[in-house]
Amino acid sequence: MAKRTVTSERLAQKFAELERKNQEALLGGGAKRMEQQHAKGKLTARERIELLLDEGSFEELGKFVMHRSKDFGLDKEYYLGDGVVTGYGTLQGRLVYVFSQDFTVFGGSLSETHAEKIVKIMDLAMKNGAPVIGLNDSGGARIQEGVVSLGGYADIFYRNVMASGVVPQLSAIMGPCAGGAVYSPAITDFIFMVENTSFMFVTGPNVVKTVTHEEVTSEELGGASTHSTKSGVAHVSAGNEAECIRQIKQLFSYIPQNCEEEPMRLPYHPGNEVREALNTLVPEHPNQPYDMREIVAHIVDEGSFFEVHKNFAENIIVGFARLAGRSIGIVGNQPASLAGVLDIDASVKGARFVRFCDCFNIPLLVLEDVPGFLPGTDQEWNAIITNGAKLLYAFSEATVPRITVITRKAYGGAYDVMNSKHIGADLNYAWPTAEIAVMGAKGAAEIIFKKEIAEAANPEAKLQEKVDEYTQKFANPYRAAHRGYIDEVIYPDQTREKLIRGFQMLENKAVKLPRKKHGNIPL
Ligand code: HXC
Repeated sequence: MAKRTVTSERLAQKFAELERKNQEALLGGGAKRMEQQHAKGKLTARERIELLLDEGSFEELGKFVMHRSKDFGLDKEYYLGDGVVTGYGTLQGRLVYVFSQDFTVFGGSLSETHAEKIVKIMDLAMKNGAPVIGLNDSGGARIQEGVVSLGGYADIFYRNVMASGVVPQLSAIMGPCAGGAVYSPAITDFIFMVENTSFMFVTGPNVVKTVTHEEVTSEELGGASTHSTKSGVAHVSAGNEAECIRQIKQLFSYIPQNCEEEPMRLPYHPGNEVREALNTLVPEHPNQPYDMREIVAHIVDEGSFFEVHKNFAENIIVGFARLAGRSIGIVGNQPASLAGVLDIDASVKGARFVRFCDCFNIPLLVLEDVPGFLPGTDQEWNAIITNGAKLLYAFSEATVPRITVITRKAYGGAYDVMNSKHIGADLNYAWPTAEIAVMGAKGAAEIIFKKEIAEAANPEAKLQEKVDEYTQKFANPYRAAHRGYIDEVIYPDQTREKLIRGFQMLENKAVKLPRKKHGNIPL
């Protein structure tokens, strides 16, 4: 017994000595480096984890890992942990795996051992069915290491792909991320960026200048604003790191642990679900815009809408919300932007979101007001055919409960695409303001009555007569309702209640897709 005590004391002494010696590195590159990081408006790798996880829940793994390189002076420069802090903890009481790259150690660059640490927690996440959150801040492959670093990246990419659709993967970009550092986030489900301090690019401004002679700043090339508006690479852009982490937590609250589980539910007490404000939100004139977000706000549980990809392809809105405490995914055409038309970006944005929800058992609500696909050479030459088909494919393939509400226009192919019953939606409702037709009345009349109008004594009056006739026949939801394509024409103020009941009815929905290796979505 006495002998054991002595050993323990010596052990503790030795451990304390080692910890002291290595404190520099364990602090995330040391106090001086920590100051450097703060001076750039950035937090350290460890501070980020602290902010993200439930207090005191973080368990670090691989704290003493060091790189094995000898070239280019690396035999004289070691940091414990090798530039990444990895481990597990809880978020909202739920198990998550986290890695947080430390830019103060070799620019957060990815070495063989740095990669091994990330791989270790990804493997644990897969085995234990829990999400992975990556806090990225890295200059890419560690240049001094050559191919072993590239191999490390490929090991991560492979796991990102294997984990895709099995456990949710969230990526926050907290600093410059270059080269290989952008491809792992790109495979994950959502990318969050921080304005002014985070960048993502495959090759930085210097290489761009050499190759294409373009002069561009890091911010212009790959800042949060660029990726959340122009490229769509980032789903959420935050003003600072604390805000970014807050947004990750919010999104996290809507999603489950893995593909076998349901998202957590908040308690719900049934009350008066009639929302009168919905009756007056759609303008009288069919071409007048309105904000679909207002409709969302009145349908879902108060203040629960969390929009993703907010500033990219604004003609479609996607995001999570709660309905009677239950997590749902919303896809809505946005008449306030480009009349809510479907173009390439909107189709891809919608498709990706639908696929995420379907992976993780999140029911889908579609709010439809769409005049069709956007015409033009730009769209055709950039493959609106292939890209529009992605949305069609994604909806058709989705087996989660799916309900559509047509608020106004459902024209042309877009009627089919936007979660129609023909492609597997469970319920389709329409408001009395719905117009379900091949195209708008004027366009239709001009084509099918072209000759009659041209030969008329008063072509203008004839056109108007034919427009009225077409409007009378098709600018309403009843033709579709007679066929059963629309299950019910409902008053807008009833929508919330209908949806609560509809999703409740669909709670045990079970659909099996035909056996296949995997489908071939038009990429
Ligand atoms: C080793 C690196 C590094 C890297 C940065 N550092 N990137 N060390 N490998 N990839 C080191 C720097 O030498 C420096 O060390 C410290 O990190 C900080 O870097 P700075 O350049 O001073 O910082 P900053 O000015 O903020 O610029 C950040 C940066 C830049 C934009 C990330 O460092 C950069 O362009 N790095 C290279 C990016 C790149 O080309 N990576 C591609 C690798 S190839 P000291 O000791 O001075 O503090 C790749 C292929 C994968 O990733 C393919 C997968 C498909």
